[in-house]
Amino acid sequence: MAVERTLSILKPDAVGKNAIGQIIARIESAGLQVVAARMTHLTQGEAEGFYAVHSERPFFGDLVKFMISGPVMVMVLEGENAVATYRDVMGATDPKKATAGTIRADFADSIDENAAHGSDSLDNAKNEIAYFFRATEICPRTR
Ligand code: PPS
Repeated sequence: MAVERTLSILKPDAVGKNAIGQIIARIESAGLQVVAARMTHLTQGEAEGFYAVHSERPFFGDLVKFMISGPVMVMVLEGENAVATYRDVMGATDPKKATAGTIRADFADSIDENAAHGSDSLDNAKNEIAYFFRATEICPRTR
């Protein structure tokens, strides 16, 4: 398996529940490493730009409104098969359909406020990481 990087966003609902530490513990337990991290409060323009691919979908306005409703934590995760591994750790987009023990099953209340984002492909991960982080802000493990 290849070592990959993926972008994670802990969304305003998860940050508001003070669940950052519990969620990162699950990420690390799955064998992924946090190689970059920052707290930020997205502007409307940043959220619209990040989700531009979904701009025609009916929930776009609500998604942007939610994503700017409070601070988020953006992270780069690194590890074997990181894109798929983190998607597994997050669980299904709709928390009602998410497997027990996943982040969304345990920390999300609805599909509108679903606790976490993870890149859905390696190509998207590269673009999403570059959206938030400069190369010099990413710090792979040395030991
Ligand atoms: S996914 O996870 O990308 O495969 O899911 P998708 O269905 O394509 O959804 C794209 C993003 O939109 C969010 N989403 C919604 N937001 C608000 N309301 C509704 N109904 C809704 N449905 C989907 C979903 O969480 C995805 O955002 P991210 O940040 O990637 O999780």
